[in-house]
This record gives sequence, structure tokens and C-alpha cells, in this order.
Amino acid sequence: MLTGNRILLIVTGGIAAYKTLELIRRLKERNAAVRCVLTRAGAQFVTPLSLAAISGDAVYDDLFSLTAEAEMGHIELSRDADLLVVAPATADILAKMAAGIADDLATTVLLATDKPVLVAPAMNVRMWEHPATRANIETLAARGVMRAGPGVGDMACGEFGEGRMAEPDEILGAIEAFFRGEGAAVTPSGGAPGQKRPLAGRRALVTSGPTHEAIDPVRYIANRSSGKQGHAIARALAGMGADTTLVSGPTGLADPPGMTVVHVESACDMLDACTQALPVDIAVCAAAVSDWRAADEAAQKIKKNGGGPPRLELTENPDILLTLARADNMRPGLLVGFAAETEKVIAHAKAKRKKKGVDWILANDVSPGTGTFGGDRNVIHLIDDSGVEDWPAMSKDGVARRLAERIADHIAAKS
Ligand code: CTP
Repeated sequence: MLTGNRILLIVTGGIAAYKTLELIRRLKERNAAVRCVLTRAGAQFVTPLSLAAISGDAVYDDLFSLTAEAEMGHIELSRDADLLVVAPATADILAKMAAGIADDLATTVLLATDKPVLVAPAMNVRMWEHPATRANIETLAARGVMRAGPGVGDMACGEFGEGRMAEPDEILGAIEAFFRGEGAAVTPSGGAPGQKRPLAGRRALVTSGPTHEAIDPVRYIANRSSGKQGHAIARALAGMGADTTLVSGPTGLADPPGMTVVHVESACDMLDACTQALPVDIAVCAAAVSDWRAADEAAQKIKKNGGGPPRLELTENPDILLTLARADNMRPGLLVGFAAETEKVIAHAKAKRKKKGVDWILANDVSPGTGTFGGDRNVIHLIDDSGVEDWPAMSKDGVARRLAERIADHIAAKS
């Protein structure tokens, strides 16, 4: 019940505005007081009359309306609520909020408020993934603006991807979680408070980043992996409620909150950390583990001695994914690997899946031109028993969410 809780709902111009009517209905069912501000663009999608009828209150839509100012000024409107909810929140209003622009009633209220704000973004996947929107979302998150969604799915524009407004139930869940005092739990990509937690009670292990294989105390063998994809997967699984252990090689990334993070340097250390984390229900090996290490790590820095470069003898590293696949009764319930390829992506990935005995392989092309290594986007082909599923180009966060959702569906179907 939300009896006595006052919500100012700002409706901006997105096709998802029709879902906001359902959200208001659910809020009213729970006895919340809902008052609406409708932007000019929002009024193209829902009418002031329908909002007024469902909310049972006046609808405010004009910054310079003298009668509205006389009844309730925009400052008062911004303060006379316990929570401000922007749903749908377009790329435009998020940009204005981040920049502090106040050029209509909705943005003026948002700039003038001293109350917590929750946004439910809704936009085309490309707009959602644009660096400008990413930066605005991060700015708003750093200021404590809470977020519900967006989700992944088919869009009104005919594309598929991340950017769909969260369902009314999810936004309602986030609002209820806020009033229970859990509002600060929102993370930039891990999930909103109140989001469904289908992996609650499950244990997950994720490897991420490169490994560093020491040649001597100052030199090492490494690769170009940034760890962005593995870290995003760990965040998505933890966001869905999994008790997550992230085993990370050296990256420049901050430790994601809400999980156990084990830092390792070499492939051998990574294998140790992974076996210690068993048993798990889900393991996702996203690390770009170095295939070789120096056969003999020099105890002291190798010096130039005028006799030409030293010969570097290599030995093969243990294969962590393969070791997990063969862990008998400790084998993870669902084992997911990546295949980083530069040619014949699908054929090599299928062969890798068989050879390593894993359940799903996420194949990606890591040729220099693709920008996959170190970049923010990824094109995935998921290979399982039933064949190959081609995913559209997505942000690494989008890939992580889609994978986590697929894992949750798989586990639900099995149990
Ligand atoms: N992997 C691992 N341990 C290793 C090497 C790879 O756990 N020593 C995992 C990776 O995390 C990834 C999968 O195996 O999930 C495939 O890694 P990839 O680098 O694509 O292939 P390799 O197994 O190294 O084979 P190749 O170098 O011949 O392509």
C-alpha cells in the first residue's frame, strides 16, 4: 500500500506514454496520491483529460498558465510531492535534466525540486546507446536520480534492443521499493530496485578481463581485453538477484557493487579463484585468458647483456572453461563461454563449444576493425544445442542484460 504517499508523475513524449496510464491506475489502487505534469510532446500521446480522469487530480501542462500559477506555482508543485517520477523519460528530458535546462513546466519542476527523482527511460536503442545519453545517465545516477529500466525487446520503431520503457509493474516495484527505503540501490546498469529478481537464490561465477603472465618482475604477456563485457555480465546477473562472484584480471574498471570481486593477475591464479568459488549454478567465462605464460619466470629483471635478445620459452596455461566443464559433480549447472575469433567466427565457435564441452558459446568477432576489444559495443552469435542465434549490435550492457535474461529463462524452464 502507498497510502499517503504523494507522487508527481511527469509524462514526456514517448509512445510508451500509454503504459503510464496503467501505472497511474496501479498507483491509485494502492492509495497513492498522483498528480501529473504533461509536456507538450507528451500531449501528442496521451490527453490531459485521460490523465486527469485516472489520477483524479488536475493536470499541469503549461509553465505560464496564470490560473495554474495562482492555484499552485511550479516551485510548490515541485516540493509538494514525496517522489517525482518521469515516465516515459525521453532522451530529450534526460539531457535537459543532466544539463539543468528549464524551458517548460516539466523541466522547471525537475530543476526546482528538492525531492528524490525516479526516471523510466524510453527511447530507440540507438538513442539509448549514444554516448551522449550514456553520459547523461551517468551524470544523473551520480546525482542520485533513480532509474527503472529500460528493458530489452521489440520497439515501436521496428528495431530490437535496449530502450523499451519498463513495464508498469516494474516501475511500480521501483516506487514501492523507494518508499520501503531501498531507493538508493539503483545501479547504472544492474537493475532498479523492485526489478524482478529471477536469479535470487542462485550462485553465479563470472571471469573478466585479461590475464598478465609475468616474464620477470617488470614485464608480462597480456592482451587488449578491457573487462567491460565480463563486468557488465556480472552486474546484470547480480541485478537479477544472483549471488555473484566476479574473478577479474587486471582492468581499469571499478569493482561493481553488490558482489564478491576477486582480483587476480595470471591464468593460474584465475583458475584457483574459480575453483574456490564452486559450486555455482551459472558460470560465464568472459575473460580473455592468456593462452601461454613464460615457462620460467625470471626472479630478477632480465638485463640486456649484448648477446642479443633472450629466448622466451612459453608453456600453455590451464584452460579455465575446460576445467570447469570437466569438474564432475562440481560442474556449473549452466556453463557459458565466449569465442573470440578473427575469421570463420561461427565455425570456430561451434568447434570450440564441442571441444570444451560448454553449454552456450557467445561468439564474437574481435578483428581490429570491429572495435570489440576495448570498445563499448558487441555483436554476438549465441550457439547452443539448438543452433545459432544472431543478436543485433548492442552495447556491452545490452548484451549482458540479454544474456542474463536468457539465463534466467533457461533456469526457470528447467526448474
Ligand atoms: N578460456 C579459459 N581459459 C583459457 C583460455 C580460454 O577459460 N586458458 C575461455 C575464455 O574465457 C572463453 C573461451 O575459453 O570463454 C574461449 O576463449 P578464446 O580465447 O576464444 O579461445 P581459446 O580457448 O584461447 O582458443 P584459441 O586461442 O585457439 O582461439
